[in-house]
Amino acid sequence: MTSRPIKIAPSILSADFSRLGDEVKAIDQAGADYIHIDVMDGHFVPNISFGPVVISSIREVTAKPFDVHLMIAPVDPYIQAFAKAGADIITVHAEAGPHLHRTLQAIRAEGKKAGVVINPATPVSALELVIDYVDLLLIMSVNPGFGGQSFIPESLTKLRQAKALIGGRDIDLEIDGGVTADNAGEIARAGANVFVAGSSVYHGNDPATYAARIAAIRNAAQTVTA
Ligand code: DX5
Ligand code: ZN
Repeated sequence: MTSRPIKIAPSILSADFSRLGDEVKAIDQAGADYIHIDVMDGHFVPNISFGPVVISSIREVTAKPFDVHLMIAPVDPYIQAFAKAGADIITVHAEAGPHLHRTLQAIRAEGKKAGVVINPATPVSALELVIDYVDLLLIMSVNPGFGGQSFIPESLTKLRQAKALIGGRDIDLEIDGGVTADNAGEIARAGANVFVAGSSVYHGNDPATYAARIAAIRNAAQTVTA
């Protein structure tokens, strides 16, 4: 269980890209805390999404923090570009390169919050030696690359382990993949306080539905942590 404020981070991967600016504005107005932005390179993950140019073009439509999840390898050559495009939090995969410690320092050197994310098959112990260099830990609860997959239940154990590793540090614990209003309660109980939600917010791409969906995830999480 977490005592940190619950934050909901809709993932624009499930937005209607033909009207992306409006889709970002819509989740801002619907109560999103962060805008979760999934960058995929077709190499580290088997899908391709978008890069810094698209991010800078949506930077104008909202003041909400940009939570940028980089699923790319190598990552170091692109950190500055994502910082300049308007990222507030830059999260990199522990599996994406041999120099994670250096990568995190490079993100902070850009004045941005540094996050580390691990895939479902990577143990939480991979985070132990970088814990004092991060502002956010992200546990993937699906194999990264696509929206709309089912939550992997073992992720709850990893959340509890990550929460214990964080201890009293000022670090957010984020979960990404298969998050819904139905499982947000048990996810909060396991220690997460930042909830990425792609299809469970954007499914159907009807802006009139977004506020209720964000609220449902938030209420389920807060009921547990209250
Ligand atoms: C998956 C991405 C997720 C994705 C989540 O690789 O990192 O952020 O958009 O989508 P849902 O919530 O539909 O599982
Ligand atoms: Zn993501």
